[in-house]
Amino acid sequence: MTIFPNILITGTPGTGKTTIAKKVCELVPEYSVISVGALVKEHGFHTGRDEELDTFVLDEDPLLDFMEPMMSKGGIIVDHHDPVIFPERWFELIYVIRCDSTEVHWDRLEARKYHSFKIQQNVEAEIHGIISDEAHESYNPKIIFELLNTTEGHLERNVVEISRELRGIVIERKEEDEIMDKEEEDALKPRKKQAYDK
Ligand SMILES: Nc1ncnc2c1ncn2[C@@H]1O[C@H](COP(=O)(O)OP(=O)(O)OP(=O)(O)O)[C@@H](O)[C@H]1O
Ligand SMILES: [Mg+2]
Repeated sequence: MTIFPNILITGTPGTGKTTIAKKVCELVPEYSVISVGALVKEHGFHTGRDEELDTFVLDEDPLLDFMEPMMSKGGIIVDHHDPVIFPERWFELIYVIRCDSTEVHWDRLEARKYHSFKIQQNVEAEIHGIISDEAHESYNPKIIFELLNTTEGHLERNVVEISRELRGIVIERKEEDEIMDKEEEDALKPRKKQAYDK
């Protein structure tokens, strides 16, 4: 069975990671998405709430242990705002989703009923490019791509770009595996007796 490389979609909360990841998976059936925030809530991979930041405090080890078997099967898009918690070996490709309008970003977070301190923190983090910096410190910059995702037009373009990239990888990996299967098959075939006419 062909193993497709895992990718990470990261970025400040509210930049559009989950929206993009889900749309890409609809277009590339070989891939499925793990939204880490949802997994944490569903399975309780946290040690409680940080009331000041209004967020769950991750319990990283059980979370990563839980994800490992899924990651080793491949074909996973991990969707999470914190790029530093994962093993570097998990990903062949990283997308950092960006929003360059404070107003747009603020409105998206406000629509989620976040309190203003949390909104401000996230908006400032995005202005300073903190997640992008963290991604660059944690992974080879050659595999990191930043995508602006402020308007609906950006969204469409980003989904097309990531889907196109993943489809290319899927085709390439399938072809490589077919060649390898064929070589293995040929190696197992009984060799034809060679006739020597002397
Ligand atoms: N390019 C875009 N144009 C307009 N709205 C968008 C765009 N991308 C995302 N949105 C909207 O912004 C909101 C936040 O998007 P989304 O939930 O995907 O962000 P996220 O990065 O996954 O956030 P979190 O890290 O908190 O899970 C959603 O209401 C989504 O519909
Ligand atoms: Mg999300």
